[in-house]
Amino acid sequence: MINIEINTSSRYEVLMGEGLLESSGDIVCRALGLSSGEGTRLGIISDENVTRIYGGDDSILAGSLRDAGFSVHCFSFPGGEHNKNLDTVSNITDFLCENHFTRSDALVAFGGGITGDITGFAASIYMRGIPFIQVPSTLLSAVDSSVGGKTGVNNSYGKNLIGAFHQPEAVIFDPTLLKTLSRDLLLDGMAEMLKAGFIGDMSIVSEAVDFGERLLSDGENLTRLAAKAVAVKRDIVAEDEKEKGNRRLLNLGHTIAHSIETLSDFSISHGHAVAMGMRIIARAAAAQGWTDPAAGDMPQITDEVLNAFAFPEIPDFSAEDLTRIALHDKKAHGGSVSIVYPYRPGECRIIDVENNRLEAVIASGLCTYGKER
Ligand code: GLY
Repeated sequence: MINIEINTSSRYEVLMGEGLLESSGDIVCRALGLSSGEGTRLGIISDENVTRIYGGDDSILAGSLRDAGFSVHCFSFPGGEHNKNLDTVSNITDFLCENHFTRSDALVAFGGGITGDITGFAASIYMRGIPFIQVPSTLLSAVDSSVGGKTGVNNSYGKNLIGAFHQPEAVIFDPTLLKTLSRDLLLDGMAEMLKAGFIGDMSIVSEAVDFGERLLSDGENLTRLAAKAVAVKRDIVAEDEKEKGNRRLLNLGHTIAHSIETLSDFSISHGHAVAMGMRIIARAAAAQGWTDPAAGDMPQITDEVLNAFAFPEIPDFSAEDLTRIALHDKKAHGGSVSIVYPYRPGECRIIDVENNRLEAVIASGLCTYGKER
């Protein structure tokens, strides 16, 4: 089992290992500081897809929690970005009221990034905050969204505009869950894993490229590389939990990715959009002269890595449309937008781009792609 300790305003462990779901009851007891689950309610929150695949009341997770003495209540919601909203949060908090949850009870987010974000946010506001545990079922949530305490939902103005920092009490990742993921869902996680590599540990990138497609069905090595990505994030969030400074590095590719997701009406998934965003920003940074002159051809390096997994190229959106959405994004503050770009392999930097320059910057990322629009 891999154990990574996260040191933010609270300390917790990210545990990764085959079969951990079966011992989740004991792990949750320990994380909540209990000798037994007797007298504590746990609300397992999942989307309908996860409930269909792994079960609700009859899942391995629910069974293990019940065996540890917890009183387990399951809530399932329709998945997808369109349901990552305040209505779903309100349904969850109603469910908690109906089942008499108190501040000494807790939630368990069992699912992907959307489930983790919604559940964490519901936990952050129910009775002014109750504990929650992350049990990621996707590679993307295991390597990124389950760690670091960002929780929230979308509204009609954009992604994640409503939210809170609320750290989980533990993250329990059982890679046996990866076996049911489609290739596209694995690629979503791979994009975030490669992103972590570009930010702080190029061995993730080089190992992933060496394995190539084989990696997607190699649970052991995927977990090992996922742990390296979590370690990159651990170091960043320990220094900047509330994203006042370097945590913004974790947004490599994300400003453009959020625009791509929104413009595609979420038919392009987050991880795929991040991969596209990384391609575009690598080009833009090179065109703007931001990259280290000694770094080599960062756009080409980025492409080689993403092409090793056949990530799609960039979609057909104009710089104007991508910019319009990005300027509604929460990373636009005052008259400028913080953009993260690859400075050299394994090192990214942040630059504030004035709002009225953003379209030209994005256009330079598109046009050096041979797609001036
Ligand atoms: N996903 C980026 C962050 O947690 O800051």
